[in-house]
Amino acid sequence: MDFQNKTVVVTGANGGMGKVITERFLAEGAKVTALDLKINRLEELRDRYKESFIPLSVNLIDESEVNQAIASATDFMGGISVLVNTVGVAQAAANIEDVSLEEWDKIIRVNTTSLFLTSKAVVKSMKKQRSGVITNIASIAAERPRPGLNAYVASKGGALAFTKALAIELAEYKIRVNGINPGPSDTSMLGKFSPAGGNVDEVKDKTFMSSVPLGELVTPEDIAEAVMYLSSDRAKMVTGSVLNVDGGRGL
Ligand SMILES: NC(=O)c1ccc[n+]([C@@H]2O[C@H](COP(=O)([O-])OP(=O)(O)OC[C@H]3O[C@@H](n4cnc5c(N)ncnc54)[C@H](O)[C@@H]3O)[C@@H](O)[C@H]2O)c1
Repeated sequence: MDFQNKTVVVTGANGGMGKVITERFLAEGAKVTALDLKINRLEELRDRYKESFIPLSVNLIDESEVNQAIASATDFMGGISVLVNTVGVAQAAANIEDVSLEEWDKIIRVNTTSLFLTSKAVVKSMKKQRSGVITNIASIAAERPRPGLNAYVASKGGALAFTKALAIELAEYKIRVNGINPGPSDTSMLGKFSPAGGNVDEVKDKTFMSSVPLGELVTPEDIAEAVMYLSSDRAKMVTGSVLNVDGGRGL
């Protein structure tokens, strides 16, 4: 896969999956702009990839901050050929009557609305160049929900439907849009799905690992591998697709 001339924006890049995805693109020769609320875990990459990498601290649910960040990314890299939306927040499992409207809104805004904002900001230049790839990280939970994740599952269902809507809208401009559904993945997010006060390690093994037919948690590297494929020219006829990287959890 040749990413030498590719210019990539990764959102949620300070997180478990986002950082590994960012590192993979840099190692394969791309220029990368990393967006996240926090960028502390990305500082070491800035030292290693001075010429080809900038991390920017951005609230991805604020339209003007997103627009400013995409403008800075375009200036720094000379364009944007690939957008990977990795940003997300978990929901501590709870009965619907215990979920506040505030919590619902926050989860929908981060997991769904942020995809709208970043896509809207990059599409204009992608249309002009008549190429581009957008990949959205959703969740297998949207297809096979767990009890108590009402807002999270709805937000990821929205992300998947949005992915397909954009794929058909942008096909005539040769812009491809795909989704990835991770299964339970070994990042710090996993423990946050446990009911408030739950034992994180117990939930990790008993609830999550045991629900994966292949018997292991998904790793950030597994997700990065799928992102690299979908972002590459090897997937030039793949759009509107959703790749489950879930160890069979959706079956
Ligand atoms: N970990 C899992 O088990 C799992 C399973 C299925 C899907 N996913 C999805 O995979 C993606 C990556 O998850 P992860 O496990 O790496 O989680 P993570 O918590 O490690 O990373 C998420 C990142 O998003 C950032 N973020 C949250 N709100 C933001 C905002 N408003 N503005 C900017 N940045 C913000 C966080 O700072 C964090 O760095 C998410 O979309 C998640 O929903 C995760």
